[in-house]
Amino acid sequence: MISKKLSAIAAGLTLSLTLAACSGGGAGSGSNEGSNGGATGDGEQKTVGVAMPTQTSERWIADGDAVKKGLEEAGYKVELQFAGDDIPKQQQQIDQMVAQGVDALIIASIDGTALSTQLDAAGAANIPVIAYDRLINGNENVDFYVTFDNYSVGVQQATALLRGLGLVDADGKETGEKGPFNIELFAGSPDDNNATFFFNGAVDTLKPFIDAGTLKVASGQTEFGQVAIQRWSQDEAQKRMDNLLASTYQSEKVHGVLSPFDGISRGIITALRGVGYADNAMPVITGQDAEIASVKLINDGIQSSTIFKDTRKLAAQSVLAATDYLNGKEPEANDTKTYDNGVKVVPSFLLESDIVFKDDIKPLLIDSGYFTQEQVDKGGN
Ligand code: BGC
Repeated sequence: MISKKLSAIAAGLTLSLTLAACSGGGAGSGSNEGSNGGATGDGEQKTVGVAMPTQTSERWIADGDAVKKGLEEAGYKVELQFAGDDIPKQQQQIDQMVAQGVDALIIASIDGTALSTQLDAAGAANIPVIAYDRLINGNENVDFYVTFDNYSVGVQQATALLRGLGLVDADGKETGEKGPFNIELFAGSPDDNNATFFFNGAVDTLKPFIDAGTLKVASGQTEFGQVAIQRWSQDEAQKRMDNLLASTYQSEKVHGVLSPFDGISRGIITALRGVGYADNAMPVITGQDAEIASVKLINDGIQSSTIFKDTRKLAAQSVLAATDYLNGKEPEANDTKTYDNGVKVVPSFLLESDIVFKDDIKPLLIDSGYFTQEQVDKGGN
């Protein structure tokens, strides 16, 4: 039996072929479908439901805004919801979108294993589902995944730690520095599929230095389960760092902290300040997301680095995927092996990220228009 989704794709294909024929056929492979993508054959505008996890971290606000803008420019109506990191609320929001009959869904999940009922309903209604940044696990109705190369993000975080400590140079070559340096490890939320990818990428990169005794995790806490921070919470990170400082660093110094997210980094910095580390004598602390408050801390020499994931590019990729589905095409994947959600390997489009040290703020963040110099100086708007 041909599924309804496939016949929808076939019908869309016929429509695009007809449109291409009418317009003389030439140009468009993919980039301009959006211009007529918003209207169905009978002129009705299509709607895309966009579910984002939270507004407490600025990256998700930027993601939500950019996805909405891109979809609207492509001619679609948008139903954008943030769930305040509350799982039942996100479930309810997606239930509502399915019930109102959206034509496609773009979802950045809070808990990647908690949306099966919603995805079953979307599947039954033939609504294509695009997982945004975070994979949705345990369900076959995830059609496509747009994200960054999450393992590489972890490698970059560890490389930034090694560079900050002077163990490798800017080309990644070992300097011969022997340390030993005391470090601590932090990981993200256990229910976010990305968190283990980041952690594995980082630990694989740090392991030779730990095995050689150049790096020492003085607390002995090296397992994901020991270092993960539920919901990526800044407060929880601060508490864990407070505890580590009290239990392990009464007489020793911390030289480096692997942090997977800028919010967690700021919690760690608060804890360190609390026991007297001066701003100009902080350990080497990594991060992720290039949040403006942390970019200022990097500019001021307090946090060492972050990872810049250009949310504008991710948003554009998700708009392209949605537009493809709504025009009856399968989006183009550049990875069909890595992201097994327990039921299937989800075709994915992976983007690249960049390490940001102080010297990279101007070329990567300001010159690209992500932030203005004034925002960096102020650490906000
Ligand atoms: C994202 C990161 C982000 C984290 C916390 C992860 O799923 O990939 O960019 O730092 O969530 O919001």
